[in-house]
Amino acid sequence: MERTYTMIKPEAVADGNAGKIIARIEAGGYRIVAMKLTHLTQKDAEAFYEVHKERPFYGELTAYMCGGPIVAMVLEKDNCVNAYRQFIGATNPAEAAEGTIRKDFGKSIGENAIHASDSNENAAREVSFFFSERELVG
Ligand code: RTP
Ligand code: MG
Repeated sequence: MERTYTMIKPEAVADGNAGKIIARIEAGGYRIVAMKLTHLTQKDAEAFYEVHKERPFYGELTAYMCGGPIVAMVLEKDNCVNAYRQFIGATNPAEAAEGTIRKDFGKSIGENAIHASDSNENAAREVSFFFSERELVG
């Protein structure tokens, strides 16, 4: 069984869409093994998105991600990392497939409602960024 890290981004939480998004995730067959509501500091956001440091949108992205509370979760399912990337849809909500979370809740390429790990290696890093072993249910 594979695990991935996901987070509901600030605008989706602020708009009151967290519950609807969590219901989608559960209906998609993903088991939630850890979950918390938290508010990133600028330093947290910069460390979490360090891989994007050289990208032109890094400043905008880190400011946005600490602009309000987020919901952090660890999910479990067969082929979880790749399957869940498909499930949430393309980075740009305008290009996301019908029925995906980003299609239905994303507002723009920046404010796209949800994050998902893009590899097993990054999933492991991102899970441990937010959760201790003790916080993951068996
Ligand atoms: P994520 O990491 O959030 O799951 O998204 P992703 O893999 O689909 O996209 P990635 O390339 O990793 O970009 C991370 C986040 O940066 C913002 N972004 N803004 N203004 C822009 O051109 C731009 N491009 C990306 C998005 O919030 C994206 O999810
Ligand atoms: Mg990414």
